[in-house]
Amino acid sequence: TKNFTLAVVPGDGIGPEVTTEALKVLDAVAARHGVTFDRTEYGLGAKRWHATGETLPDAELAEIRKHDAILLGAVGDPSVPSGVLERGLLLKLRFTLDHYVNLRPSKIYPSVGSPLANPGTVDFVVVREGTEGPYVGNGGALRVGTPAEIATEVSVNTAYGVERVVRDAFARAQARPRKKLTLVHKNNVLVHAGHLWKRTVDAVATEFPEITVDYLHVDAATIFLVTDPARFDVIVTDNLFGDIITDLAAAISGGIGLAASGNINPDRTAPSMFEPVHGSAPDIAGQQKADPTAAILSAGLLCEHLGLTEAARAIEAAVEADIEERTGSIRSTAEIGDAITKRAAG
Ligand code: NAD
Ligand code: IPM
Ligand code: MN
Repeated sequence: TKNFTLAVVPGDGIGPEVTTEALKVLDAVAARHGVTFDRTEYGLGAKRWHATGETLPDAELAEIRKHDAILLGAVGDPSVPSGVLERGLLLKLRFTLDHYVNLRPSKIYPSVGSPLANPGTVDFVVVREGTEGPYVGNGGALRVGTPAEIATEVSVNTAYGVERVVRDAFARAQARPRKKLTLVHKNNVLVHAGHLWKRTVDAVATEFPEITVDYLHVDAATIFLVTDPARFDVIVTDNLFGDIITDLAAAISGGIGLAASGNINPDRTAPSMFEPVHGSAPDIAGQQKADPTAAILSAGLLCEHLGLTEAARAIEAAVEADIEERTGSIRSTAEIGDAITKRAAG
């Protein structure tokens, strides 16, 4: 049996609840596919910050880095100033471990409810840039709290950073049957970054003659995500646009409780990190009301990344079967997790 090491960061709110279920499913498929997952849990998040003032000490980050992969629940809590944990913990992990591909698949399962009347066959993936854009913290505030306050958040887009994520998106499109790539940006207004993205896509496209390339301004993309989501195959976009459109993508395809993600370091210079798209959901935390499916599907993406293709398929199939039999009767977080675990165990 091959052993994989996992760093587990349950985090805040519903994070620990959904992570518990994802780990159950991972153990079930591990047993069946001849691998083990050796876990180390890291107590990071709101509780830790209140106790020590720490978000993610460098020594702990160095420990986390030694693992094969990271499983994260969610971070952020109303008792902590907004941004402290999001930037100091989550973004610090994504940036330091160079997770430049934030992979967010969307699929409408035949039996799942979509708020759209006739969505058609929806199966696309958003390749969201994960290390640049307005997220880098390049900016500042002057004369805070006065009528003359000025706040800037400057989006950083490097030729290096844009090209590597665009290349990854093309390679993914090449491996999919429809071979289509849509760049989403706002190059009619954000002309500096927008034109860099457009030129990069056009240049890389010459190396992928089989790929159909399309461009949409982000505002128009939100229209089509609702009126014609079946048109999308691979979407490549910057960090902030990708954040926003993937919550919308989740909402049209079964809800935020199903949306999985991988923060991928394609060069494998550091472990990749898998987490649901959703946050810590303080409004339902601690009540066993959260749907753990997104966390479970994220564990599936983790298996895929580690080369455990059969285990990944088993998780996806177990989730799909569970979704097909959802009747609308309310189940607890653990009940959903147990049902999927049972199916994944075979
Ligand atoms: P959220 O995703 O936590 O919640 C939005 C809505 O979706 C809430 O009504 C919530 O109850 C619901 N929801 C989320 N996950 C669900 C699930 N698994 N099952 C059922 N319902 C679910 O977004 P928010 O309210 O904007 O943010 C709350 C906190 O989480 C903030 O501190 C935010 O910064 C943080 N956050 C963290 C991450 C992350 O760790 N990756 C992602 C998004 C938000
Ligand atoms: C997400 C979240 C994060 C993001 C926040 C919490 C930093 O919204 O993972 O989608 O914006 O990337
Ligand atoms: Mn988000």
